[in-house]
Amino acid sequence: MMEKMTYNLAGGLPDPRIFPRNLKIFEMNFEQAISFNELDNEILKILRYRGINAKKEEILLTTGSIQGIFIFAYAFINSGDKVAIEYPTFAGAIRVFKSRGAKFVKIPVIPYYDLKIKEENGIKAVYVIPTGQNPTGIHMRLEDKKELLELAEEKDFIILEDDAYGLLNPEQPTLKSLDKNGRVVYITTLSKVLSPGIRLGIMVADKEIMEIFKLIKQNIDGGNSSPSLSLVYSSLKDGSFWDGLSKAKIIYKEKKEVMAEALKRYLPQAEWNYPEGGLFYFIRINGIDSEKILEKVKDRVIFSPGTKFFFDGYGKEYIRLSFSYSRPEEINEGIKIISEAIDNKIVSIE
Ligand SMILES: Cc1ncc(COP(=O)(O)O)c(C=O)c1O
Repeated sequence: MMEKMTYNLAGGLPDPRIFPRNLKIFEMNFEQAISFNELDNEILKILRYRGINAKKEEILLTTGSIQGIFIFAYAFINSGDKVAIEYPTFAGAIRVFKSRGAKFVKIPVIPYYDLKIKEENGIKAVYVIPTGQNPTGIHMRLEDKKELLELAEEKDFIILEDDAYGLLNPEQPTLKSLDKNGRVVYITTLSKVLSPGIRLGIMVADKEIMEIFKLIKQNIDGGNSSPSLSLVYSSLKDGSFWDGLSKAKIIYKEKKEVMAEALKRYLPQAEWNYPEGGLFYFIRINGIDSEKILEKVKDRVIFSPGTKFFFDGYGKEYIRLSFSYSRPEEINEGIKIISEAIDNKIVSIE
C-alpha cells in the first residue's frame, strides 16, 4: 500500500533541489531538522544542572540570551519605569533597557552586593547576574538572594536573573531555584560554554508570562535557526556539550591564575578582587582613562573600557580583562603592553 502523503501547500518552503548538495542540513525543513521534544528534554537537563525543575511549557529558546533580555524588557518595561540594575553590569543589558526608556536604580556590587534598593519604592523590575557577575566576577551571597526574593514580594517587582556564567559555577544556587512565587524570569546562554556564534539562549518563566514571551519572539524572528539547533542537539545527545563544559572549568581556572600573576607582575598599582566566577578581571587604576589607553594600544591588544558597564558614563579608571579566549603567553604579553602604555604615559593621565 502506498504510504499516505501529506502535501504541503501551506508554507513558502524552497524546492529542495536548490539546496547546496554538500550541506545536508539544508535539506531538512524546520520541523524535520530535529526532534523538538527530545531537544526540550536535553534543555531541561541543562536547567536541572542549575537546580531548576522547569516544565516544557515554561521554556523558550532564544536567539542568544540578549534576545531574552530584549523580550523581557519589551514585555514589562515602558518609558519611565524604574529598573534596578547592578552598578556596573553587562553593557548589552544597559543598551536594551535604555532603548525601552528605563529609569535606572543602582545596585552597587563593588566590593560586594549592596541591596540598598530596599529603601526605594516603585521599582518595576530588577536585572541581576548573581553568579560570576559581569564584569566583576562576584557571586551574590545566599542571604542576599533570599533578601532580594523577599523584597520582590514586598515591593511587587519582577526579577530577571541572567545566569550567563552559571553553568561554570553549578554550586551557586540560582535565584530561580529559590523562588517560590514566580517572581523570577531566568535566562542563560550557550555562548560561554559552547559557542557565541550558535546564538542560543534559554529563557524560563511561569506559563502565563511565557505565553506573552512566545508571542514577542514570534514577532522578532519567527523561531531559532534549525542548523544551530541541530548542532546544539547533537552535542547534547552525544555528551560532547557536557565534556566541553568540564574542560572549560579546568581551562578557565588555569587561565584565571595566569592572569592574576600577570596583573601582579605588570600592573602592581591596579586594584582588583579575585573573580569568584565569570571570565573577567575588573581592575581599577587610579587616574587613568581606559578609553584613551585602548585607543593607543588597540592594534596590539584589546580590552573593554570600564565606562561600558556603568549606565551613567562613570568608570574611566576601570578596565575589564577577559582570560577565557587568549593563550597564557598572549595574556602576559597583552597585560605587559597595557602596563607600558600606562607607565610611559603615552596616554594623558588627568
Ligand atoms: C551577563 C551576560 N548576559 C548575556 C550575554 C549575551 O549572551 P548571548 O551571546 O547569549 O546573547 C553576555 C555576553 O557577554 C553576558 O555577559
